[in-house]
Amino acid sequence: MDRRCQPVRSEVPRLSPAPVEAKWAIPGMVVLVLISLRADLTQASPPSLQRQEELRNLLYQDCGSCHGMRLTGGLGPALTPEALRHSSRARLVAAVRNGRDGTPMPPWRELLSDGDIDWLIDSLIGRGERQ
Ligand code: HEC
Repeated sequence: MDRRCQPVRSEVPRLSPAPVEAKWAIPGMVVLVLISLRADLTQASPPSLQRQEELRNLLYQDCGSCHGMRLTGGLGPALTPEALRHSSRARLVAAVRNGRDGTPMPPWRELLSDGDIDWLIDSLIGRGERQ
């Protein structure tokens, strides 16, 4: 038999990556979940230009009937970036989607998609496009 073709060294020290992987598994998963959540937020089907126009009209006419024609307050509180600064984005989105029980603020989820509501809140808090 020809023995020249046999592997010469089999005792090369093996790196053992397992402990490193285990250490990073949980932070890695957290990062992945955060990335996917963020993707969801930004991908919630942004309204078309025409829809943005409709939403802008809705904001000043319908929302404005309570929040003031210039959204500076009326029956409902002001919706200016300054006035909304103290609230979390999630709380504002929930107020528009579900309304506020026990107050005149009605729920809008039947009329507005999640993408519509995201866009409205971004406009109100001054992120994204301004009116
Ligand atoms: C019938 C009157 C009425 C209409 C119409 C209305 N709102 Fe309101 N809204 C209110 C009232 C009253 C509150 C305050 C509720 C409370 O006391 O928590 C409020 C609260 C809010 C808040 C929370 C503000 C904060 O600082 O927490 C947001 C955001 C909001 N409205 C957005 C809208 C948008 C956007 C529209 C239109 C799509 C709209 N509202 C239409 C009456 C109204």
